[in-house]
Amino acid sequence: MSGTSLDSVDAVLVESQSGQFNMIGHHSHSIPAKLKDAILKLCQPGDDTLQLYAETDVQLGELFADATLQLFAIHHIQPSAVTAIGSHGQTVRHLPPSDNWIGFSQQIGDPNIIAALTRCATVADFRRADIALGGQGAPLVPAFHEDFFGHSERHRVIINIGGIANITSLPPSNLCIGFDTGPGNLLLDAWCWLNRHQPFDRNGEWGASGAVNEQLLERLKAHPFFSLPSPKSTGRESFHLDWLNQQLWKQFGDDGPPAAQDVQATLCALTADSIAESVLTLDVSADEAFVCGGGAHNSALMSRLEKQLQGVPLLTTAALGLDPDWVEAVAFAWLAMRRIHHLPGNMPSVTGAQRYAVLGGLYSA
Ligand SMILES: Nc1ncnc2c1ncn2[C@@H]1O[C@H](COP(=O)(O)OP(=O)(O)OP(=O)(O)O)[C@@H](O)[C@H]1O
Ligand SMILES: [Mg+2]
Repeated sequence: MSGTSLDSVDAVLVESQSGQFNMIGHHSHSIPAKLKDAILKLCQPGDDTLQLYAETDVQLGELFADATLQLFAIHHIQPSAVTAIGSHGQTVRHLPPSDNWIGFSQQIGDPNIIAALTRCATVADFRRADIALGGQGAPLVPAFHEDFFGHSERHRVIINIGGIANITSLPPSNLCIGFDTGPGNLLLDAWCWLNRHQPFDRNGEWGASGAVNEQLLERLKAHPFFSLPSPKSTGRESFHLDWLNQQLWKQFGDDGPPAAQDVQATLCALTADSIAESVLTLDVSADEAFVCGGGAHNSALMSRLEKQLQGVPLLTTAALGLDPDWVEAVAFAWLAMRRIHHLPGNMPSVTGAQRYAVLGGLYSA
């Protein structure tokens, strides 16, 4: 799994036995700076360099294979002991279907290369079957959340704060719903990099030294994505530094923007508030909420979220037996298992697809 944040490739080793699904190992693999630059270039609408796309597809396939082989080495695993690898791939564009444009979602990191170098069958291309059925192709983690975190009496909400944030609502006797709520760490990381040359604001400390600018917060909350009904999903295409700079210009013009740490505090509030508002407007009120993804480490973000959730108890998925750093990667191992057993992986109530579908293509070793 390599998510929107481009912080690292996450590799997990998962054992599935008599209905039990357990993570037994993990490894975080760094992404070389040059490759990261190439990915970011490919994420820019307009930069349509087919050569770069094809080269990066190969390099990422090799990187994902390296990550897997290191995971095997750390945990003394022989490829012959592995049923399959699930590879989400790196998203370079995600533009869900709309009346106004042709919808698609593109992940790269050639699975043929992963299968060849690791000698393990590889499942990849998870999103496009759902899009072919009219769905958003995202989020795909809710089916796993339901299977792993669902409770027969308590209404749980799982909140994943990656580059983009998404929630899964698991009411005990109703259909699960889930959708992207907007930016997770994406804008926080971008603003922090621009102003401090650090890839992220550790524990949200820099942002916590600033004050939320209410006028700016209101303007940012006016982004049309927030008022869209679900199903909905988003990506770097909608929330990026250029958009933030445009909003700063519109709000403050020649007066200049507020202090950089105040903007960071405001971005933290934007992430927390948009998640909390989504949770609070669910049809059935939640009994408890659990965070996963890197955002779980941002104390400032977690405190604001807890406050905005108005009494819904907030914990991380560690309380449910799964370390928040590995939930997304484990979810894609679970989706690979579904593909191997020819079981559906999407949830039409979440993505809007016409029906359930077996997700992913299988690439033989
Ligand atoms: N100690 C920390 N303090 C603040 N933020 C952190 C900390 N550790 C991680 N993060 C944030 O988490 C991000 C990585 O989270 P994660 O890996 O869940 O996102 P992702 O790769 O975009 O995942 P996905 O798209 O699959 O949800 C980092 O870019 C950073 O913003
Ligand atoms: Mg990540």
